[in-house]
Amino acid sequence: MNLKVLLFIIFTVIKYQIMNIRPRRNRKNSAIRDMVQETKLGIENLIYPIFLEDGKGIKTEIKSLPNNYRWSLDLLLPEVEKCIELGVKTFDIFPAVNDDLKDQIASYSYAEDNFYLNAIRKLKSEFPDIVIMSDVAMDPYSSDGHDGLVEDGRIVNDKTLPILAKMSIAQAQAGVDILGPSDMMDGRVGYLRNELDKHGFTDVSIMSYTAKYASAFYGPFRDALNSAPKSGDKKTYQMNPANKREALIEAELDIAEGADFIMVKPALCYLDIIHLLKENFNTPITAYNVSGECAMVYAAAQNGWLNYEATMSEMLLSIRRAGADGILTYFAKDFAQFVKK
Ligand code: PBG
Repeated sequence: MNLKVLLFIIFTVIKYQIMNIRPRRNRKNSAIRDMVQETKLGIENLIYPIFLEDGKGIKTEIKSLPNNYRWSLDLLLPEVEKCIELGVKTFDIFPAVNDDLKDQIASYSYAEDNFYLNAIRKLKSEFPDIVIMSDVAMDPYSSDGHDGLVEDGRIVNDKTLPILAKMSIAQAQAGVDILGPSDMMDGRVGYLRNELDKHGFTDVSIMSYTAKYASAFYGPFRDALNSAPKSGDKKTYQMNPANKREALIEAELDIAEGADFIMVKPALCYLDIIHLLKENFNTPITAYNVSGECAMVYAAAQNGWLNYEATMSEMLLSIRRAGADGILTYFAKDFAQFVKK
């Protein structure tokens, strides 16, 4: 035995004999554990994404996202009522649009008889106290399946902005409380803020998808809406998963342009980004616990490999601990049910 090892052992023995700091004392029972718990997670932190389809009597489970459905409005109304009873107050509604209504300029997104806008009106009149968030991007309405306007195979930034603005005004008119621009075009937050204000919607909030990465975890969502890009990928507008400092640039811009919340998406592989934005900005931060992240938990739980409730709670808590004020998650209703028990 050499001298270094011997000294280490002697030192360790001495240290443990005079050990006056024992972190386990603060873990000895649940009352003390609860008292010193640093991060709290409640239903009030959660936003529930829901998929809506035109028609009647529809509740179709999404194959790649078990436990989540495409609803028609008639069946969604009682479902929302149940969620409200459980304490869920904020909903992000996404429309699944028929292919024959899609075109290059996403004109259905602001059409007079748009079923999605009508559904929002109905939801707000039935449940005036809920908060409704919407998605602002062309993809569910676009025959190209891209978030922006496609010209000669390229996504053109500045010509997309007026389209997003028309969509936003239509959504604000329908009663949306928070607009969620998820398109990642440059300058869109300022453009939309300006247009909203010009139309008198100064109270409508913007939750910007600030650091939205070109992620493989959006698959089940695109299945749900049949909204995958028809050609190419989204890498010219969504961020490179390798980049961190770039998130600071996006956040500075969105805040300067008037964003009320800045969002990181996805959440789990990007906890460092959530933390980074939390350390650097005072604007509330949200994170999108996206479809692929939830699908992994559902799949493992269905196989009996993971405990569903424990895993989902730990996942959501870790997103809060990283610094998210709010979390968009497909677990919202189940989490609410779980804490009620
Ligand atoms: C649309 C949009 C997407 C998501 C939210 N809004 C998909 C995409 O950008 O391709 C993904 C949400 C999820 O996976 O749960 N722009």
